[in-house]
Amino acid sequence: MTVGIFFATTTGKTEDIAERLHSMLPNAQAPVDLADLSDVSEMETLEGIICGIPTWNTGADFDRSGTAWDEMLEDIGELNLFGKKVAIFGLGDSSTYTENFCDAIEELHSYFVKAGATMVGYVSKDNYTFGESKSVIGDSFCGLPLDEDSESDLSDERLERWATQLKNEIGL
Ligand SMILES: Cc1cc2nc3c(=O)[nH]c(=O)nc-3n(C[C@H](O)[C@H](O)[C@H](O)COP(=O)(O)O)c2cc1C
Repeated sequence: MTVGIFFATTTGKTEDIAERLHSMLPNAQAPVDLADLSDVSEMETLEGIICGIPTWNTGADFDRSGTAWDEMLEDIGELNLFGKKVAIFGLGDSSTYTENFCDAIEELHSYFVKAGATMVGYVSKDNYTFGESKSVIGDSFCGLPLDEDSESDLSDERLERWATQLKNEIGL
């Protein structure tokens, strides 16, 4: 089972979380910074993909992340990822940016859906306090939201639970 972890970051928090998640999922490959990835088609060689994306462009419909992910979205949508399991975690701030909490998860999610991937790693919104998020589908976030700005004390527990969920859903 080859599973890759990819992230983009501006102030380092998404990279830090990617590394902490990798320590909980040692069978996955070491996290790769999108800045070091020349071609997203490398993702087609993997059986599972885990992506980390922060939200910086507050309230934006498009290019919500404000990181290297934004330039890769169209290319990701063109990939053939049928049969691949994909999970997304997002970094945001549920207090200061409560009306746009982790909005970028859903944008990235939509391009992986376009590529035919099987999306996993959904998380109930019940244990979060926030106003609005574009990343809520039904009663769940379409990935794992994390808040290292206002709720960093909750991240370890959220990550542990998600890592266990991914072991089952991806088969890691
Ligand atoms: C100017 C600015 C805009 C932000 N906009 C949002 C936002 O719309 N939604 C959100 O959830 N977090 C928002 N954040 C919080 C960041 O997403 C958060 O700090 C994140 O952990 C940064 O990740 P990084 O260090 O990997 O870049 C914003 C932060 C700043 C400083």
